[in-house]
Amino acid sequence: MKDFISIHDLSAGEVEEILNLAADLKTKQKRGEKHEYLWAKSMAMIFEKPSTRTRVSFEIGMWQLGGLAINLDQEAIGLGSRESIGDVARTLSRFADAILIRTFSHQKVIELAQNASVPVINALSDLLHPCQALSDVFTIREKKGKNLRSLKMAYIGDGNNVCHSLMFAAAKVGINLTVATPKGYEPKGEIVLRALEDARHAGIEIAILNDPVVAARGADVIYTDVWASMGQEKEKTRRAKTFLPYQVNAELAQLANPNYIFMHCLPAHRGDEVTDTIIDSPNSVVFDQAENRLHVQKAILVKLLKG
Ligand code: CP
Ligand code: NVA
Repeated sequence: MKDFISIHDLSAGEVEEILNLAADLKTKQKRGEKHEYLWAKSMAMIFEKPSTRTRVSFEIGMWQLGGLAINLDQEAIGLGSRESIGDVARTLSRFADAILIRTFSHQKVIELAQNASVPVINALSDLLHPCQALSDVFTIREKKGKNLRSLKMAYIGDGNNVCHSLMFAAAKVGINLTVATPKGYEPKGEIVLRALEDARHAGIEIAILNDPVVAARGADVIYTDVWASMGQEKEKTRRAKTFLPYQVNAELAQLANPNYIFMHCLPAHRGDEVTDTIIDSPNSVVFDQAENRLHVQKAILVKLLKG
């Protein structure tokens, strides 16, 4: 595994290894035990979109592992404008042991990785958000135990980057997933095809439909994300109307199993995709979910840089 770009590229064994390592790193960090597995290693981070969780957890995570992560000023670096993506990749590979990128076009991530001699981490593209989804299945395992096959997970909302990576992650760890989106906002066909193939191998079911009620009924996990992702701000008003029946509120959530967990990658637009009643309820695990980004990403870094 040279890069971390899509969960689809990982074997189920590699996913398991990262999740177990994350659990170990979490225990060590909680006990205050040193775990400087990446002493003197470094990472260059390019953020072409805003970030709180991803940036802070990678920066602090790298520091806890004994290394250094630096955030590059994207205006100054001018990826693809001041300098070609290939030349940036080749240059950063001479200084840093890993490169992280959050950007719009997924192709940019691929091009960076093709030209870098060090591992490249996808910290969100318009197509995928693998760091999020891997950490989310870690959270589900923590909350629901390792017998994931008996679980029913519902993703309700936009068939976006988070949804795509969750489909891949669910297939790798064996969680049955139902995705409910409005018509025209389903996950991308090419991603669905690959995820369904992975699901078939794993012997689990991924269903794509348009009815949020069917998805929520009997769910053990309800997951949602914003209706308009970063870069889609102009569509916000139109989407708000279309997505209203997909709001995770008390009425929808009462269809789930009583001990269901509510998940959201955050940032949340309270009152749109989720009401305060749900996100602030005892069923909500969104801040544990946010914290686990730190532990799982540290495991990804160790796996990439130490093998
Ligand atoms: N969930 C997530 O990736 O959060 P940020 O956009 O704040 O990094
Ligand atoms: N789908 C959201 C996720 C943010 C973490 C976006 O791309 O804006």
